[in-house]
Amino acid sequence: MKRIVILTGAGMSAESGISTFRDSNGLWQNHRIEEVASPEAWALHPERVLEFYNQRRKQLFEVKPNTGHFALVRLEKKYNVQIVTQNVDDLHERAGSSHVLHLHGELKKARSTIDPKLIYELNHWELKLGDKCEKGSQLRPHIVWFGEAVPMIEKAAEITKSADIFMVVGTSMVVYPAAGLIHYVERKTPKYYVDPKAFTVHGITNLEVIREKAGKALPHLVDRLLNNS
Ligand code: OAD
Repeated sequence: MKRIVILTGAGMSAESGISTFRDSNGLWQNHRIEEVASPEAWALHPERVLEFYNQRRKQLFEVKPNTGHFALVRLEKKYNVQIVTQNVDDLHERAGSSHVLHLHGELKKARSTIDPKLIYELNHWELKLGDKCEKGSQLRPHIVWFGEAVPMIEKAAEITKSADIFMVVGTSMVVYPAAGLIHYVERKTPKYYVDPKAFTVHGITNLEVIREKAGKALPHLVDRLLNNS
């Protein structure tokens, strides 16, 4: 079975009603990154950080996967599909995708502040000061903040190297190391970039740029890939 690796970003979930970060009225226009998504913010104002992610989590319990998420699931009929997502939502999983690697963490999980191996599923939207791990330390959102290492990046690079087809969906490709993954894909490998603001990535060959929303473009692109022999 050929392997398709799909790198997704906030645009993938936009049609589900989740705001992107850098589009007009995006999350980073209304919140300062360093005040809600950094280790410094957590040290100085943990309640503000918890509130920011609580609001994101609350919304996540209210939204659903969109046509784009469901289209990617259909690829599994013919391909070994590996999704590498920058998104912290669980919409790929809820749509039915089998292999999803989260580069920037997961909103519905919390982790211990003294033992990063202690990770807990949250089945409720609110994480509060005073919520503790089994070793007695405060729980934090299971999110990779700015200035923190991206523990899954090596695994993502390995997966990306083995792609027979590579797809990028709904990401501005400005946040590294995720944006650098495309450089691990072999030159000859067919590549697709689906995003209304997609651009020709410098130095990347065999790239088809599809400037459309994921919900419109992906059902067609998936049909094409399923009909290819
Ligand atoms: P951005 O907000 O930077 O980019 C969103 C992209 O989605 C843009 O290129 C939009 O054109 C595109 N877009 C909007 N609507 C779309 C739609 N319906 N279909 C397809 N594309 C659409 O979000 P990311 O690239 O995901 O990190 O941002 C990367 C990281 O920066 C995030 O994971 C987050 C953020 O800071 C952390 O929080 C660690």
